Amino acid sequence: MAEQPIQRGRLRPAPEHFLNEADVQAVEAGRRGFLRKALVTASAAMAATTVARAEDGDPAILTLPPWTTSLGQPVAARPYGLPSQYEKGLQRRESPGLTRMSQVSVAFTPLQGLFGIVTPSGLHFERHHQGWSDIDPSKHRLMINASDDGFIRAPRVYTVDDILRLPPVSRMHFIECGANTGMEWGNVAVPTVQYTHGMLSCSEFTGVPLRTLLDDCGVNWKKARYVLAEGADGSSMTRTIPIELVESGEVLVAYGQNGEMLRPENGYPLRLVVPGVQGVSWVKWLRRIEVGDQPWATKDEAIHYVDLLPGGQHRQYTSIQECKSVITTPSGGQMLLDKGFYNISGLAWSGRGKIARVDVSTDGGVNWRSARIDGPVHGKCLTRFNIDWVWDGRPAILQSRAVDDTGYVQPRYGQLRAVRGTKSIYHNNAIQSWKVAETGEVSNVQVL
Ligand code: MTE
Repeated sequence: MAEQPIQRGRLRPAPEHFLNEADVQAVEAGRRGFLRKALVTASAAMAATTVARAEDGDPAILTLPPWTTSLGQPVAARPYGLPSQYEKGLQRRESPGLTRMSQVSVAFTPLQGLFGIVTPSGLHFERHHQGWSDIDPSKHRLMINASDDGFIRAPRVYTVDDILRLPPVSRMHFIECGANTGMEWGNVAVPTVQYTHGMLSCSEFTGVPLRTLLDDCGVNWKKARYVLAEGADGSSMTRTIPIELVESGEVLVAYGQNGEMLRPENGYPLRLVVPGVQGVSWVKWLRRIEVGDQPWATKDEAIHYVDLLPGGQHRQYTSIQECKSVITTPSGGQMLLDKGFYNISGLAWSGRGKIARVDVSTDGGVNWRSARIDGPVHGKCLTRFNIDWVWDGRPAILQSRAVDDTGYVQPRYGQLRAVRGTKSIYHNNAIQSWKVAETGEVSNVQVL
C-alpha cells in the first residue's frame, strides 16, 4: 500500500498580526473576551483559506481578478516603497505598560514574521533614553578630544561630509540590547517572541573604522586605554569602550544601514557600531569621542546596565552579548491548526564570533537534533536555522540551543540562575522554551 504523504500543518500567526491599535487598546482595557473572539475569527479565516482543487471550481482560479484585467498603478506611485497593505500587522511595537513615557521606551522587532537574517530598517527595534530627533546633518559634528595632550596630538571636529569622504567599510552585525529577555529573569513575563527577544536586530552597517579617525587625530596607542562615546540627544548617553575593540578596527562610526543612510530612530546621521557588545554602547547621534586611560563610570555604567549577582554584589561593565538563540516560529501566541509537518525556524547569535551549531529539541531538552544552517554565517551576526518537525498532536516543548565557535554552549535557565540568581535585568541568554498544547496553542514556558 502506498504511504500517505505527511500533511503540511497550518500556523495561525500571533495576535499582533491581526489586532489593530483599537483592538490592542480594548485588550489593555481588560476586555479579554474580545481577544478570544479575535483569535477564534482568525483561526476560522485561516481554515477557510484551504486551497480548493481546480476541478472543485475554486473561484481564485476560475475568476480573473481585477489585477489581471486592468492597468496597475504607475511607477513611482510611492517614491519610497512600502510593504503590502496585507502585511500591515507586522510592526515594531511598544510593550504595553513597560515604561511611563514612550520617549523613554522600547519598540520591539517582530521577529516572528521575519525571514533570513536582515532586519528591514523600518522594523529595527528602537530603544531611546530621551526620545529621538531627525537631526539636520549639516548641523551635526563629531568631535574627537582628550582631557590630556598626551592621548592625542591633534583633537579634531568632523562634519558628516568629512566622514562620508573617507574610505568606507560595510559589515553585517546584530545589535542586541543588554536588557533583551530581561523581563524573564524571575519567571515567564510576556507572551510572544516579539516581546521576549525583540530588542534584537541585524543590519549591514557602513561607515569608517573609528581607528582611522583616531589615527587621523594622532592618538597615542600606547597610552590610550579607553574611549568615551557621547550622543547628541538629551539623555547624556555616554559609554566607555576598551581601546582594544577600537584598535582591532571593528568599531565603526557608521552612517549607512542596509544600503541607505541610518534611520533617525537608529542614530542618523552618525552612530557607533560596536560588534558583539550590548546595544547601549552603540551610541546613537554620536557627537563626541574622548580618549583616556580609565573607565568613566558614567550613570549608564554605574547604576544601569550592571548585573545584580546572587551575593548582593553588582557586576559592572559586562558588555559582550553571550551566545544565544530563539525559535521564532512556531512561537508564543501562534497556534498549530493541524497535526503534520512544520518547519521550525529561528535565529542564533554570539557576541564572541560565529555560530558553530544549533541544536533543537521538541521534548523539553531530553533529545536534541542539529538544525540546518542554510544562509550566510558571519561573525557577530544573526544566523538563521531551520529544522523539519512532524507534530503528532501531543503536547511538545520546543527549544533551541546555540553553540559558538569558541565552544561556548547556550545555558539552561537552571544553569544561568545558579550563577546569576534571578534579580538581574540584563544579559539573559538562557534557552527559550515554547510549549505546544494539545489544542495547538503555543505559549511561553520556562524549563530549568
Ligand atoms: N544612544 C543615545 N545617544 N541615546 C540612547 O538612548 N540607547 C542605547 C543605544 N544608543 C541610546 C543610544 C540603547 S540602550 C540601545 S539598546 C541601542 O542604542 C538601541 O539602538 P536602536 O534604537 O537603533 O535599536
